[in-house]
Amino acid sequence: MRAAVFFEPGKALEIRELSLDPPREGEARLRIAASGVCRSDLSVTTGTLRSPLPVVLGHEAAGEVLETGPGVDGLAVGDRVIVSLSPECGECLFCREGRPNLCVQMAPGVMNSSMLDGTTRLRDGSDSIYQLCGIASFAEEAVVCARACIRVPDEVPLERACLLGCGVLTGVGAALNTAAIEPGMAVAVIGCGGVGLSAIQGARIAGAETIVAIDVVPEKLELARELGATHTLDGGSEVRRELRKIARLGVHVAIEAIGRTETIETAWSLLRPGGLAVVVGMPKARETARIRVGGFFQEKRLAGCVYGGAHAKRDIPRLLDYVRSGELRLDPLVSHELPLEAAQQALDDIARGAGARHVLVLG
Ligand code: APR
Ligand code: ZN
Ligand code: ZN
Repeated sequence: MRAAVFFEPGKALEIRELSLDPPREGEARLRIAASGVCRSDLSVTTGTLRSPLPVVLGHEAAGEVLETGPGVDGLAVGDRVIVSLSPECGECLFCREGRPNLCVQMAPGVMNSSMLDGTTRLRDGSDSIYQLCGIASFAEEAVVCARACIRVPDEVPLERACLLGCGVLTGVGAALNTAAIEPGMAVAVIGCGGVGLSAIQGARIAGAETIVAIDVVPEKLELARELGATHTLDGGSEVRRELRKIARLGVHVAIEAIGRTETIETAWSLLRPGGLAVVVGMPKARETARIRVGGFFQEKRLAGCVYGGAHAKRDIPRLLDYVRSGELRLDPLVSHELPLEAAQQALDDIARGAGARHVLVLG
């Protein structure tokens, strides 16, 4: 089967014919129908996120089950599924505390680009190839953790459902779980890519009264309006001053969905007393942001947000319901549908801020 392999920084992804070992205990082999291209895939190629190499990128996937390994319950050949990033083991400290988005079993995939047992199923001849997030969906097939597979109803196409595996769950989850936006609130979302546009939809679904979208690309702002933003601001302007013309005291919730320290600082500066800044974007882990501490005496709060603070097994089916009712719109998020060969082009586009979400359609 073919896959797009990232060998080293500065080199374009290469389409290679790879072999895939059969699924082991608790795993399933999928035909990948579609894979969204997320900024985190780009971040691996730039070194912002670290992964062992060579690696097959892609972690926002939907597909059809081709084969299950031993000990797999509740998943059958032919099932159409989204692959979540969290195996939700149900047993670790975090799962038991109701925070499966921090499940310790995510670590092998996220830190080491391997399966739960630390190995990988992908081979190029006799060489092992790593699998981003234990998924590796820039490929025609993938072996993944069966527990991470969540069924998709027939009426939702896999070319859209895949987005729920990362970007949409992350953005909507930031709004509904981490920020717990309430009706009537004023919200600002900085960065209107796949994640930010989903946060805007989450804010709309939660009943926010004022939703200010901030981006540097005019087309993104147009899309933001279509998806629920009530106001838009050019990120290159004096955002803090401009925002106060819209929400005099500042916003209840500011969501950063880019991954830059400057915009994390901006998010903090947009809050009203008692407001909450939610950081979804991922800069390099060692970077530092500077915020005015006076805000703490106005009870401003700063919160991290991983994978939308989501309980994927609970929230992905909920989001699928919102998709079916039309409240959560996926079509406008997809600016490009591309074949596997165009994976590098999709990464280049994201780096330039072009397009909302790119989806690789693999057949
Ligand atoms: N001010 C405002 N908007 C900006 C700025 C800026 N200074 N710089 C970039 N942007 C906009 C881009 O124009 C783009 O629309 O931020 C958006 C980022 O979107 P994507 O690159 O599509 O990123 P996305 O996949 O949505 O992920 C956002 O969440 O999960 C994390 O790693 C991911 O850090 C990334 C973030
Ligand atoms: Zn992602
Ligand atoms: Zn766990």
